[in-house]
Amino acid sequence: MTQEELFKVLVAHCKEYGFIFPSSEIYDGLAAVYDYGQMGVQLKNNIKDYWWEAMTRLNENIVGIDSCVFMHPKTWVASGHVAAFNDPLIDNKDSKKRYRADVLIEDYLAKIEEKIDKEVAKGRKRFGDAFDEAQFRATNPNVLREKAKYDEVHGRYLKAEEANDLGEYKQIILDCGIVCPISGTANWTDVRQFNLMFSTSLSNTGATDDKIYLRPETAQGIFVEYLNVQKTGRMKIPFGIAQIGKAFRNEIVARQFIFRMREFEQMEMEFFCKPGTEMEWFAKWKENRMKWHVNLGMGEENYRFHDHEKLAHYANAATDIEFNFPFGFKELEGIHSRTDFDLGNHQKLSGKKIQYFDPETGESYVPYCVETSIGVDRMTLAVLSHAYTVEKLENGEERVVMKIPAPLAPVKVAVLPLVKKDGLPEIAQKVVDELKYDFSYQYDEKDSIGKRYRRQDAIGTPFCVTIDHDTVSDGTVTVRDRDTMAQERVKIEDLRALIDKKVSLTNLLRNL
Ligand code: GAP
Repeated sequence: MTQEELFKVLVAHCKEYGFIFPSSEIYDGLAAVYDYGQMGVQLKNNIKDYWWEAMTRLNENIVGIDSCVFMHPKTWVASGHVAAFNDPLIDNKDSKKRYRADVLIEDYLAKIEEKIDKEVAKGRKRFGDAFDEAQFRATNPNVLREKAKYDEVHGRYLKAEEANDLGEYKQIILDCGIVCPISGTANWTDVRQFNLMFSTSLSNTGATDDKIYLRPETAQGIFVEYLNVQKTGRMKIPFGIAQIGKAFRNEIVARQFIFRMREFEQMEMEFFCKPGTEMEWFAKWKENRMKWHVNLGMGEENYRFHDHEKLAHYANAATDIEFNFPFGFKELEGIHSRTDFDLGNHQKLSGKKIQYFDPETGESYVPYCVETSIGVDRMTLAVLSHAYTVEKLENGEERVVMKIPAPLAPVKVAVLPLVKKDGLPEIAQKVVDELKYDFSYQYDEKDSIGKRYRRQDAIGTPFCVTIDHDTVSDGTVTVRDRDTMAQERVKIEDLRALIDKKVSLTNLLRNL
């Protein structure tokens, strides 16, 4: 199965087992908007808990807030979103489909890279152990031709991006012969800027100055509450403010399931520090955030940093943590050193003094800020795509198992009476009563035990507890491990400790 086919299977699995549904599906859905089902919401909440506790409990100097989606319209002028939160869009006149001009060019460049990689793979096959990749790349005529093409287009693209030259974007698309995948034609409109913020009106008068925006990031809620939190919390620099909440972007290219949505959730932390110390904090947060990811056990090799060469005007350092999604390494989290850009601009536009008075040195300054920002939905997709596993069993059958990190699993334990009689359901109920205060659980007495195990594997339940006839006489149950399928006999009173060891969020946090 190709990665693309596998991704389609994953999307279908997420729907079939109650993780994620296309929103308003009975009306044929809404592009790039998804609802979380009974399993998805628990997984998402567990991810949020892991992030929230790691930020606000493990760091004495980080506090959390919950600010509103609606904010004063000047917020978005100060943040630069009104002027510059744009994507360059282009329409194909024949198919009437809309694309991001930069994405069309980047996809074209990615295809050239793919061609080069294929040539290299062919070379490796041909020369075997004697293969010298560096020499091959430097001398093979096909590779050199493709590389020259790549460098030429890439150079033009970077210049166009730097100069915000929309005409040049279109010229590159035409020169490279990039066509619409639907119509197959190059009958393109001019490229124009499209602001990604959704707007609505605060009152029903329809006056244009009533226009307010749905926040495109949660960060600005933190910046406008900086003074309140610093004063009421008597926070001393350096300190951080964390927030989890919804954000909205009118994405032109909405694709790859929950990777890029129009309504999504962010977990953002703004860390305020003394000017001049920001690089030290930037390095610390890079390390801290990577540790948080790797601690989940989804394979260190599946993460990498991508440092930005071209920085946004407000940043003096930026990196992405990329994850190995089924469609390749892509941004999962952004870490930016945002200088005093946001607080400084809010100070200017609001006319309120937003400064920190350092009691030790007697100076006042606008703090600098290092931001860590991760999408909850993108993190959910990382977990789901890594978890999806198809295994061949000894009896020739296949099982689909979601190897979700146990502390994040939606359901931690399934309680299964072997049969629906002989007092076994009654004992199972007692087991449920013993476990339900600590763990999310499912009780299931329908179908064969094998089928019930498969159902739990498909939603990623780390433990299945089976109550059988021996339970009646000796008070022990069978505990089956999701990943190894190994079974052990355990006393009912020992169940809680055994399950907790593997699924506890506390233990996960302790490892950080
Ligand atoms: N405050 C900084 C900020 O918003 P960003 O790189 O635009 O930076 C941060 O977004 C994170 O939010 C991304 O790394 C990604 O995980 C998530 N994100 C951004 N746009 C998204 C979208 N349309 N759908 C889902 N997640 C998104």
